[in-house]
Amino acid sequence: MPKLTIIAFDGTPYDFDVQNGSTVMENAVRNSVPGVEAECGGACACATCHVYVDEAWSATVGAPEAMEEDMLDFAYDVKPTSRLSCQIKMSDRLDGLVVHVPERQA
Ligand code: FES
Repeated sequence: MPKLTIIAFDGTPYDFDVQNGSTVMENAVRNSVPGVEAECGGACACATCHVYVDEAWSATVGAPEAMEEDMLDFAYDVKPTSRLSCQIKMSDRLDGLVVHVPERQA
């Protein structure tokens, strides 16, 4: 079971043991992490599940695919480490992943 840490905008860390195959967004919503709205339910069609992947994890998580990249144009304050959390699937490779919630969603 990989571990996932989601750090809310106020700096509060939320730590979880998560299922392989679950997305970062699903875990955020299930545990009521503030600031992850996920209006489209994970269809890569809203950009309200925007997070910043921690610098230390950025290379491992990798870049968004074209569809996610297009949708990120609608997110607020996009940075090089920006991803849509519904498009990050947890796996043993991502054990210990840390992501940060932005100040607000678009
Ligand atoms: S939940 Fe809508 S794009 Fe991720």
